[in-house]
Amino acid sequence: MSTTPSAQVAVVTGAARGIGLEIAHRFQAENYHVILLDNDKATLQQCKTNLKGKGNYSFEFCDVSNPRQVQSTFQKILSRFPAIHALINNAGIAIFKPADQVTFEDWTAVMSTNLNGTFLCTQAALPGLLEAKGSIVNIASISGVRASTLRIAYGTSKAAIMHLTKQQAVEYGNRGVRANAIAPGPVETEMAKLVHSADIRTSYSDAIPLARYGTTTEIADAVYFLCSPAAAYINGQILAVDGGFDAAGVGLPSLRG
Ligand SMILES: NC(=O)c1ccc[n+]([C@@H]2O[C@H](COP(=O)([O-])OP(=O)(O)OC[C@H]3O[C@@H](n4cnc5c(N)ncnc54)[C@H](O)[C@@H]3O)[C@@H](O)[C@H]2O)c1
Repeated sequence: MSTTPSAQVAVVTGAARGIGLEIAHRFQAENYHVILLDNDKATLQQCKTNLKGKGNYSFEFCDVSNPRQVQSTFQKILSRFPAIHALINNAGIAIFKPADQVTFEDWTAVMSTNLNGTFLCTQAALPGLLEAKGSIVNIASISGVRASTLRIAYGTSKAAIMHLTKQQAVEYGNRGVRANAIAPGPVETEMAKLVHSADIRTSYSDAIPLARYGTTTEIADAVYFLCSPAAAYINGQILAVDGGFDAAGVGLPSLRG
């Protein structure tokens, strides 16, 4: 694989598909060397085949919820790329169930990937981030801002990611590393197909002022902005990319209409 030694480096977790893959493309378009991490071997392999010869990409199998795998993966990355300019903690899972049906296994699975994974990958990448005076972007969700049904584990994990982001911004900021989060509204990906029923889709269209789902490109553009020099003084912020969903408050369609 060809690698430009002077290229900036971005690591994107959960990058084999969906929002993470689009973020990888966005950084590649800015001439970064992009390292895609994922725990879905088959999809990651497919990605590798599709992207062959299309840019500076590396691929690492890694379960972000597994401390040992995270440690060894980032050791490998750092031995090749001592400076990491952007870390995007995007890997996430969603289990939507009524609160009283969520098992402890469900709860633990969601927290392990979404929250623990974000914590573990950032800690493991830190030497590279400090070296580059890089930038962290954590992918939260509007479900961490506004409570809703079915999301007791998912929403709580995303709210925790937002606070984790502020902790990281405060502790790493004075060492030259910025940390921010994106809170996407609904985006049409495999995850959305899995957990958004027809009812949920109709309700989103009613409640979102722009009356549509976001695109992966719109999320990737916001992530890139937060890592770019244009955002050099932005640290510890949660940017909702949600078509106005958070702003709507009592967004009853009848009131808006
Ligand atoms: N799609 C939406 O509507 C939406 C809305 C708000 C926030 N988000 C967040 O955006 C992020 C990406 O979501 P998406 O819609 O692209 O989902 P997706 O399911 O299409 O993709 C997620 C990727 O993460 C990988 N992954 C899952 N667990 C992992 C683990 N333990 N280790 C490494 N990789 C892992 C999956 O294999 C997959 O490739 C998630 O954090 C999600 O919570 C999505």
